Amino acid sequence: MRSDYCGALRSADIGREVTLCGWVDRRRDHGGVIFIDLRDRDGIVQVVFDPDAAEHFEQADRVRGEYVLQLKGRVRARSEATVNPNMATGEVEVYGIELEILNIAETPPFQLDEHTAVGEDVRLKYRYLDLRRNEMQRNLRFRSKLTTAIRNYLDDMGFLDIETPILTRATPEGARDYLVPSRTHDGKFFALPQSPQLFKQLLMVSGFDRYYQIAKCFRDEDLRADRQPEFTQIDIETSFLGEEEIMSITEGMVRGLFQQLMDVDLGEFPRMSYEEAMLRYGSDKPDLRIPLELVEIKDLMTEVDFKVFSGPANDPKGRVAAIKVAGGNDKLTRKQIDDYTKFVGIYGAKGLAYIKVNDSTDLENGLQSPIVKFLPIEVRAAILERLQAQSGDLIFFGADSYKVVSESLGALRCKLGEDLNLYTSEWAPLWVVAFPMFEENDDGSLTALHHPFTAPSCSPEELAQNPLGALSRAYDMVLNGTELGGGSVRIHDQEMQQAVFRILGIEAEEQREKFGFLLDALKYGAPPHGGLAFGLDRLVMLMTGSDSIRDVIAFPKTQSAACVMTDAPGTVDSRQLRELNIRLRLKEEQVG
Ligand code: AMO
Ligand code: AMP
Repeated sequence: MRSDYCGALRSADIGREVTLCGWVDRRRDHGGVIFIDLRDRDGIVQVVFDPDAAEHFEQADRVRGEYVLQLKGRVRARSEATVNPNMATGEVEVYGIELEILNIAETPPFQLDEHTAVGEDVRLKYRYLDLRRNEMQRNLRFRSKLTTAIRNYLDDMGFLDIETPILTRATPEGARDYLVPSRTHDGKFFALPQSPQLFKQLLMVSGFDRYYQIAKCFRDEDLRADRQPEFTQIDIETSFLGEEEIMSITEGMVRGLFQQLMDVDLGEFPRMSYEEAMLRYGSDKPDLRIPLELVEIKDLMTEVDFKVFSGPANDPKGRVAAIKVAGGNDKLTRKQIDDYTKFVGIYGAKGLAYIKVNDSTDLENGLQSPIVKFLPIEVRAAILERLQAQSGDLIFFGADSYKVVSESLGALRCKLGEDLNLYTSEWAPLWVVAFPMFEENDDGSLTALHHPFTAPSCSPEELAQNPLGALSRAYDMVLNGTELGGGSVRIHDQEMQQAVFRILGIEAEEQREKFGFLLDALKYGAPPHGGLAFGLDRLVMLMTGSDSIRDVIAFPKTQSAACVMTDAPGTVDSRQLRELNIRLRLKEEQVG
């Protein structure tokens, strides 16, 4: 039907007769001459119809935005005055000879060229139109290029692409499962995989040695700008390789992708322990583009006559820390400080104390702050000294449990970085390593920090003796404050696996019921193995500079995990439910 893509025409094509197919981006009538901007997936070209081609001119006069056309014309140079340097095809235009309207279109519910004013709900309801927009075309095209490059890299490294089931059992990655009722097994349910974790480990037991899959994962969890209930992993597993080799292969892949697709050299990724990351950045995925750091001041606050600070300072699980914003006195208004106080509240902080350092040489009167009256002169001096604070600086304080202070000041650090545009580089990758095996829940029980199949760095006996002190052989790749991927060396020894289950409170019977197949497989010659999974959507989001993961997925879900275009999830008819032996217990308002 077509000889060329609209967006591909250049000066070299001048004189050629071309057949184009596409959508009417814009139609203008200029004193008897009709200009049509015709758009296809490659871009836009200007087509001109004048009354000389009478029959087709009439057709051209009838077309409206988003009509689908096939047209024939001759490529010609634009006159110097009409060359458009902002358009890839701006040096040429097509002089229209024939035109056929392949389909008409109603006026779209929003302008396809300017989406900023359009609510995301409308964009998602008419996603097929939204996807016509240049930005979305570019994102999805980039995504396709990226997956091709990933496949090429892994293929060159000897990885095999193997599919794993979607209808399966629960795979514990810490989120809720999406369940699918079984018609053939009364009262039983499949779970959609939160990741292919156990299957990829079993493929190692089977001897495939190097596996990868671009795999759909499903997690029923609270959504954010970088989370979807249905998302894609670049899932990788290897046998007989340790963490160094796995990190080297996967770092090489990401560095290569940036080089190849963006001409960006990420350099060698630095490494940081989990402990250091929490201490200095209050996060296990620190954004190293931002120079601000948390500074521990717990030891300075044990004696002060201010409970808010002395309480956590004397509590082994407490933390008192500060962040200095150099020159922050002038940059931040009282209103902004109040807003930041509200902001840290989201993370459980009960307040946000601050000191404005008006004059660092006058500890009596040079510090402006609601809390300074509680602090003896020598403590004031020690704070300024530790933070290397100077006149004009502003210092924020957090005092609470270790977790609340780290999370709230960690988030504040990122917010300040963004609001004050403190970024010192465009890209800041790193590996976070030496994670603890477990974290303690409020009720004293333990949860695996990664997943329960992650190998500890110690023996089963040491693990049982001091689970909270044990480190794991896990590693996360972080880029600009986003966790791009995570993985670990796995447990390949049945006893160790059972020891971990026991610490997590999963007793023998439950172990058999839920993970019997894994424990059995570990008995039949499981090789040492390990791997990693990247979030593909997050990687595309960062590489394309998108604000939301939804802008790099063709048909994403909304924040409330629904598809407003197809209206999913939907109701099912009673016959289907009967077949599944399911009876609904709806809340009253849903019945009516
Ligand atoms: P993890 O749970 O860390 O590890 O997931 C790996 C990566 O997947 C991405 N990701 C998500 N992306 C979008 N929406 C979500 N809801 C979402 N959840 C996770 C993140 C994350 O780093 N089986 C292990 C991997 C392994 O050990 O090999 C796993 O799934 O970028
Ligand atoms: P208050 O004595 O509660 O009025 O608090 C005095 C100052 O300390 C205010 O600026 C509060 O925002 C701040 N503040 C209160 N609780 C905390 C906390 N847990 N961490 C840091 N600052 C706090």
